[in-house]
Amino acid sequence: MTAPDLSFDQVEPVISGFIDDYLHLHGLDPQRFRARPLPGCDEMFFKAILPNYEFDASISAFKFVESTIRLGEAYRQLVEGVFGSFDAVGPVLDFASGWGRLTRYLEQRLPVDKISVADIYHDAIDWQVSTFGVAGLHSTKDPALLAYAGRHDIVLAGSMFSHLPEGLFHAWLAKLYSLVSERGVLAFSVHDEAILPAGETMGPDGFHFLRFSESGSLELDIYGMSYVTDAFVGRAVERLGGGLSWRRFPKGLYENQDLYVIGAPGVDLSALKLGSTPMGGFETVATLSTGEVEFAGWAVERTPGADIVAARVFVDEVETLALSPITPRPDVQKHFPGSARAPVGWSFRLSPQQATPGATVRVRLESATGLMGYCYAQMPAPATFTYSGWSRRGLR
Ligand SMILES: C[S@@+](CC[C@H](N)C(=O)[O-])C[C@H]1O[C@@H](n2cnc3c(N)ncnc32)[C@H](O)[C@@H]1O
Repeated sequence: MTAPDLSFDQVEPVISGFIDDYLHLHGLDPQRFRARPLPGCDEMFFKAILPNYEFDASISAFKFVESTIRLGEAYRQLVEGVFGSFDAVGPVLDFASGWGRLTRYLEQRLPVDKISVADIYHDAIDWQVSTFGVAGLHSTKDPALLAYAGRHDIVLAGSMFSHLPEGLFHAWLAKLYSLVSERGVLAFSVHDEAILPAGETMGPDGFHFLRFSESGSLELDIYGMSYVTDAFVGRAVERLGGGLSWRRFPKGLYENQDLYVIGAPGVDLSALKLGSTPMGGFETVATLSTGEVEFAGWAVERTPGADIVAARVFVDEVETLALSPITPRPDVQKHFPGSARAPVGWSFRLSPQQATPGATVRVRLESATGLMGYCYAQMPAPATFTYSGWSRRGLR
């Protein structure tokens, strides 16, 4: 049974304010972003994000926006690293686009006539074509049946190869690589062996497939959960042709997926840099006998070689405090297996003079990569607390 569409107008006003602020900070127009509902058929939202946040539609909508921006930030780095800027990019293809999480970001960065989307969910593609005006492609179970030969500067397959069985992994890799332009790249995400569930063993060739997924309709023979080693991916890339330039960015996409980027023959990716946005969130708030309010939360840097170098607290846009997130949080680590840095905790206090009830409290997590993560809360009236919510459970 399909859920009713979720309109952003249904989101609680406080969380709506957080969403608008978050979008503004990334140069996105909130009105345009919010104009499109979350379609009730979107399993990624209704069967993955919503249950992860105890079916709280407002917090889930915030987490959807947050994950969209993290996806967009990865895409921006890819664009800037390979082409210099969005202006310099030609046609792009979001393969396995679902209901257009990335399209919501891309339509604010590129002319829509440069954007193509493809998915095996044909209704999701038809919806995107009519909603955003992008070009749509109905995909197939078997790449041999996909009669499409367009060329694109970026072909991205986010969270598709992380679900394919081994044979289809190789077949789709070859098909999608054939859709890359002469100056382009293929980017795709996988589950690394670091996040193999407890009790499961990696296969001898560096591939392991489990027969479950969030999809209520895709057969497990074509879509489950797959885990790979980087050696497996390296051999898969070699099958495409010798001497290709390719890179692995651990935890480069979503919360826990590795991003691989392969250049067209002659495209050198050795200088490409791509970091993972710092993640974090508020967890607790306590009003102290002094009248101050104490906030606490967590943060994690996932980019190898980088650290969260600072965290700043803003109250209604005014920078109010700087803090160092230093307390170890080993309890959070299990949610980011293999992360480059151990998760940390932070806390700070605000006096009634620094923040009045209802003020928006934003923590900016600043990574040495230059990427920023943001966490939101509202200064409570006595005995209330609103925050942007968090979960350490996996989102694809
Ligand atoms: C986890 S979702 C990710 C959706 C989207 N990339 C995002 O980040 O929101 C995986 C998507 O892969 C799509 N998919 C699975 N097999 C596919 C195939 N053979 N061709 C195209 N899309 C496929 C599913 O329909 C689903 O929309």
